[in-house]
Amino acid sequence: MYAVIGTNSWGGAIYEKLLRGSSVDKETLKAAIDTALKNKMFIFDTAANYGFGKSQKIIGELCSKEIELSAKSTSPKKYKRGQVRAELEKTLLDTRRSYAEVYWLHLPLYIEENLTEMAELYREGKIHNIGISNVNIDEAKRANTVLHNANIPLFGVQNHYSLLAREWEQNGLFSWCRENNVEFWAWAVLEEGLLVPPKKQDNSSALKTLYNGKRKKLAPLYDKLEHIGKIYNITAQQTAIAFCSSKGIVPVCGCRKPYQVEQLFEAAKVYLSETEIKELEIAADNTGVKIMGADMFRFMVMKLSEDVY
Ligand SMILES: NC(=O)c1ccc[n+]([C@@H]2O[C@H](COP(=O)([O-])OP(=O)(O)OC[C@H]3O[C@@H](n4cnc5c(N)ncnc54)[C@H](OP(=O)(O)O)[C@@H]3O)[C@@H](O)[C@H]2O)c1
Repeated sequence: MYAVIGTNSWGGAIYEKLLRGSSVDKETLKAAIDTALKNKMFIFDTAANYGFGKSQKIIGELCSKEIELSAKSTSPKKYKRGQVRAELEKTLLDTRRSYAEVYWLHLPLYIEENLTEMAELYREGKIHNIGISNVNIDEAKRANTVLHNANIPLFGVQNHYSLLAREWEQNGLFSWCRENNVEFWAWAVLEEGLLVPPKKQDNSSALKTLYNGKRKKLAPLYDKLEHIGKIYNITAQQTAIAFCSSKGIVPVCGCRKPYQVEQLFEAAKVYLSETEIKELEIAADNTGVKIMGADMFRFMVMKLSEDVY
């Protein structure tokens, strides 16, 4: 299974400190990129709003032509014809490229209008694959119909999924993707660091402070991840990644450092057994930890779509 490098936290010192509690310099990012390319991990996932707009620009500066670009149309405005084109052009300008390998509709708003415009850009060769993000099964089906009518396959669905947020398996979206040859990309497979066993209490960012309480409850899950990981000579966090890739789900993992890229690469090669997957699911459910799960951005979709539906 291949894996995707997430660049949500590539954004310069202030943004990174706010989000992750620490920042990394450009040399470290460059070393992380080189590690990815060395391991033939070419796909980097970004969006115009990542890193307060800096993520795309950093890609343009550090690895524009060497990588495969996964970018998104995010505009949370009322649909206006030409908006997707304008957003893509800005992304291509920032990343210093002439096309994106994958272009996603970030939120399921104005699906028909946005995807019809994306289909035009696809025909012009500016987009090589079209996907849709943060969708439920009905929205995925609608997207599929629009693209099918334009003779374009729906490439993929990119949704929040992890060991702690598996609703898409229960509500049918995941099997629909599999049956229809639509890739399922999971964002936040490490739950923004929550699935990384802590060495000590961490208050370096608001998010990390918020997670401290949950981490205590997650202790038995960390033990299980470590225990199973030892069988494959991987860490607990790598086991959380392997949990996804073993199911045929493409892990999109936020990496800023070379060792993280290396670990992602190694983890995505591991196939856990059915029994190990079940044991992890039971351990995760037994913690009782609930996070804002699969449909994390539904409130935004509802708010922005009041006059759409
Ligand atoms: N489609 C969408 O709406 C959407 C929404 C959100 C995210 N995404 C995409 O998904 C990507 C991943 O999500 P995310 O970055 O928010 O969360 P994530 O991948 O679940 O977690 C990133 C966190 O895990 C840490 N980490 C990564 N690899 C590690 C390793 N091997 N060992 C220990 N810690 C490790 C990072 O550490 P550091 O703090 O050291 O960097 C960071 O704190 C984003 O970058 C973005 O591309 C898409």
